[in-house]
Amino acid sequence: MANLNLGRNEFGQPENAGNTLTKEAAQELLLSWVINTKLRVHMQQVGYLMQRWAAEKEGLDEQGQWRWEMAGLLHDADWDQWPDQHCIKIITELESRKICPEIIRAIASHGPAYFGVDPVTQMDKMLYAFDELSGLVHAYSLMRPGGYDSMDVKGVKKRLKEKSFAANVSRDDIQDACERAAIAQDDLIAFIVKHQPSAVLF
Ligand SMILES: [Fe+2]
Ligand SMILES: [Fe+2]
Repeated sequence: MANLNLGRNEFGQPENAGNTLTKEAAQELLLSWVINTKLRVHMQQVGYLMQRWAAEKEGLDEQGQWRWEMAGLLHDADWDQWPDQHCIKIITELESRKICPEIIRAIASHGPAYFGVDPVTQMDKMLYAFDELSGLVHAYSLMRPGGYDSMDVKGVKKRLKEKSFAANVSRDDIQDACERAAIAQDDLIAFIVKHQPSAVLF
């Protein structure tokens, strides 16, 4: 894989704090850059989890919730067509559109082992934490006859322990993310299992 290290730690401009894309513009960007429907679903699910967390755990208003959601929604925008430019391309795009540095930073730090950017803010940490675990829970739902129906934390943990299940999901990253965010893995799993089925797909 190409070296994805971003080689910097500052993203966006402070004077752009609070600037976001409209929901329509963010959706349009996602749909035009991401062809792979599985990846679209993943990004929409992570966006939804970020929005729910911002509302329920951070107590943010609608604008704040949208900033969190936007980071989740666009974090993998360049992965489908430009994997060797992940995530430099989406960062550059959002910087040129004068987007809030908080959002760009969260995207830049969603894989510290790859991009060389440590998650610092709570938004950074939660995006990192949701990313891999959300994918594993979704893969689990696809193999269950009832999908998400009556899924529980125990079942997800069993799949986590099976190294061959969703083998591309990094168990090390999940553990690292929970430690950084100071969240018990069980609580994070429970949150995802509860909310992910309601993610709005477009
Ligand atoms: Fe990614
Ligand atoms: Fe992702």
